[in-house]
Amino acid sequence: MPGTVIVGTQWGDEGKGKLTDLLTKQMQVVVRYQGGHNAGHTIVVDGESFALQLVPSGILYPWVTPVIGNGVVVDPAVLVAEIDGLEARGVDCSRLKVSGNAHLIMPYHSELDRLTERKLGKNSLGTTKRGIGPAYADKAARVGLRVQDLLDPKIFREKLEVVLKEKNLILAKIHNRLPLSADDIADLYLGELRTRIEPMIADSVGLVHDALEEGANVLFEGAQATFLDLDHGTYPFVTSSNPVAGGALIGAGVGPMHIQRVIGVAKAYITRVGAGPFPTELFDDNGDALVDRGHEYGTNTGRRRRPGWFDAVMVRQAVRLNSLTELAVTKLDVLDAFDTLKVCVAYEADGQKYLHPPYHQSILHKVKPVYEELPGWNLDLTAATTLDDLPEAAKSYLQFLSDACGVPVGLVGVGPGREQFVQFTDTSVSEDDDDDDDDWDDEDTGVVGPGILVI
Ligand code: GDP
Ligand code: IMO
Ligand code: MG
Repeated sequence: MPGTVIVGTQWGDEGKGKLTDLLTKQMQVVVRYQGGHNAGHTIVVDGESFALQLVPSGILYPWVTPVIGNGVVVDPAVLVAEIDGLEARGVDCSRLKVSGNAHLIMPYHSELDRLTERKLGKNSLGTTKRGIGPAYADKAARVGLRVQDLLDPKIFREKLEVVLKEKNLILAKIHNRLPLSADDIADLYLGELRTRIEPMIADSVGLVHDALEEGANVLFEGAQATFLDLDHGTYPFVTSSNPVAGGALIGAGVGPMHIQRVIGVAKAYITRVGAGPFPTELFDDNGDALVDRGHEYGTNTGRRRRPGWFDAVMVRQAVRLNSLTELAVTKLDVLDAFDTLKVCVAYEADGQKYLHPPYHQSILHKVKPVYEELPGWNLDLTAATTLDDLPEAAKSYLQFLSDACGVPVGLVGVGPGREQFVQFTDTSVSEDDDDDDDDWDDEDTGVVGPGILVI
């Protein structure tokens, strides 16, 4: 039965948490498939905000089994603190399952992430310093400890002692730090943390497949985004996992035939946290207005996000990389106060035009965006719930994005609240491949773009 993947199409913080929460209404299982607590996924219910890091965004629905898949890296102390925080607010986390194959973030991972960033100085990547990169590096080097190792203290201890020897050398010789103690780490991980996590440890692959075979709807919740992907992002300014839809297959243990829908989430503009190329970045009043109106500060790190105009070159590429079946455009309301909007439709460098990101990073660093200007609407959209509530200029903007990226828009966010979205109601997808705009603004169906029923 069908699987749905939710994937970020930009540089993260597109609103994946809110969309996951919305779609969970019709799901039985929600799986996080990569990343760790570098993610911050916000859900706002009745004015109450939940910022989730490791726990899948389906947790708020009592019938759902939330799963932390094998592709995730888990800091057990953070997981336990997050669960405690949620339970203190009345959210039942007893259904949460954690893959035994997921890798553990160890104290030396976060320490080395911080120290390496510091050593890199002006060349630092701007990581979240949560130990994500070092944990995935150890996974690839086959010296990582996994969640299932918590169940076997002897094996845990043996692996820890081997790997810690090398880590302590690095800490001492390269960073001039005191060694970490294997006893302290083992006491921490094999004590209270193990006791708390043990009941959640599961064969997540078996669980997901049993659910799929029983006809359940399974949602795969991506963290980070397409252009933070280790292979397809703006390397080295990326995270250390594969957020693209293909990552869901590996990080949850399913084959491609189980995926029916791949929903890309894109802000109606774009932001980035941390260093790296950013063709449409704004350094002017428009940028400040996007940050102020969109509250563009990191969910967990509090860092100011870098703002820019919507970049259709990137989302066009995201359509290819993820086989997107539809796009959810979030934060349209943030554009309410702009007289004129710009959308980047191509890049230019050395007299050459690019409709997709140039594969060579040095070119990407120097491209100039080619913009199309569109009129703003100067109206408050935050109460809109149907297409009829959207002014023509807003519909045209969405139509333009859909056209420029080559993917239908299925849902539009008009505020952080769970109920603040506009859904396109027609279920028929246009079979007509021509570029005739008449396909897009069909007054009879009230659909902007080929309609897709999202919820
Ligand atoms: P994620 O990491 O992709 O889940 O996104 P974040 O939660 O880090 O950042 C998105 C932010 O935008 C959060 O504060 C959300 O509450 C908020 N948000 C989501 N959708 C909308 C929307 O349509 N309009 C507005 N104004 N805010 C939104
Ligand atoms: P969500 O899931 C935005 C960025 C960091 C840094 C780079 C590498 O909330 O969209 P890392 O700690 O992963 O090694 O940092 O990736 N980054 C994110 N940016 N949203 C995220 O997650 C991010 N997770 C990592 O800022 O530039
Ligand atoms: Mg986020």
